[in-house]
Amino acid sequence: MKRVFSGIQPTGNIHLGNYLGAVKNWVEKQAEKENFFCIVDLHSLTVPQNPEQLRFETRSLAAMLIAAGIDPDKSTLFIQSHVPAHAEGCWLLNCVTPLGWLQRMTQYKDKSAKQESVLTGLLDYPVLMAGDILLYDADEVPVGEDQKQHVELARDIAQRFNHVYEEEFFVIPQPIIPQAGARVMGLDEPTNKMSKSLAEKRGHAVRLLDEPKEILRSFKRAVTDSGREIQFSTDPDKAGVNNLLGIYKAVTGKSEAEVIADFSEARGYGDLKVGVAQVVIDMLNPIRERYQMLMQDPAELDRLLARGAQQAAAVAAPKVDQMKHTMGLVLPA
Ligand code: AMP
Ligand code: TRP
Repeated sequence: MKRVFSGIQPTGNIHLGNYLGAVKNWVEKQAEKENFFCIVDLHSLTVPQNPEQLRFETRSLAAMLIAAGIDPDKSTLFIQSHVPAHAEGCWLLNCVTPLGWLQRMTQYKDKSAKQESVLTGLLDYPVLMAGDILLYDADEVPVGEDQKQHVELARDIAQRFNHVYEEEFFVIPQPIIPQAGARVMGLDEPTNKMSKSLAEKRGHAVRLLDEPKEILRSFKRAVTDSGREIQFSTDPDKAGVNNLLGIYKAVTGKSEAEVIADFSEARGYGDLKVGVAQVVIDMLNPIRERYQMLMQDPAELDRLLARGAQQAAAVAAPKVDQMKHTMGLVLPA
């Protein structure tokens, strides 16, 4: 059975892009594979956080993922910092990763340009991520388009370690990018991806916990163009309509031709927006209800997360010990 590893940060509001680009695919494939899904709280510390809020959001995301269909009996769901091998693996991999590889990462360049003081952790972020993946010898890493470069870096780091220390020590992971929903754009600004850091801005994102009224309002405000043609298109002027159609396609699983057929009677973009809002609302209603139930039973949530951490550590801890030994460290007797 193929082994799958993926991660998601507990900060900011999980939104429709995260769901369609990542979580939905994790859920749909979970019976066919051996899955590890990690709430990457250590990654969140690479930019300043409010401690109380981070703690709340970490547990809230766990509830959200279970509500969205991650079944703790089929998948190992855990919090990254509960398994110390992740931080240790990062250090060991730091010592085979050239600095120049990290300075070239586009996410680092974007994020660091927006900050006055850049933390070392932000530069090192992709090495921590490489460790997440490599410690589990994952074959597949399902992520949205924006994380492809980081998974490719994890491959490079694995190859380098294998070359320097021991052939075939690490499995070389594959990024798995969904065909539909890989890049959901901001509703207010359809040439930029929908982003957690902008999710509080009115009309930018659909957050998974938004009430139906709010979802409808966000779609109604979505930026489109002055035309009326409802077609998939790569024309930047049509990015808004293309994004709405892409969301509809990812939610319904229909082909492009079927999507267009569903809107053949539409009298303009207004009907398109309402139609897309409706399928999104129907998809999110049961998720929101299950989330609320899970958040009312914190002891059960903690129990599930403790079990997940134990299962994850059973794989990651021996692997990190093998790394240490291979690199010449003395293991404790
Ligand atoms: P993050 O929000 O950075 O923790 O991302 C969690 C997962 O959601 C990753 O697999 C991302 O690639 C994916 N993702 C984030 N934003 C989008 C988006 N706008 N469209 C599609 N996938 C996304
Ligand atoms: N960097 C990823 C993101 O922001 C999250 C992540 C951390 C991850 N570790 C991972 C994704 C390992 C896949 C595999 O989306």
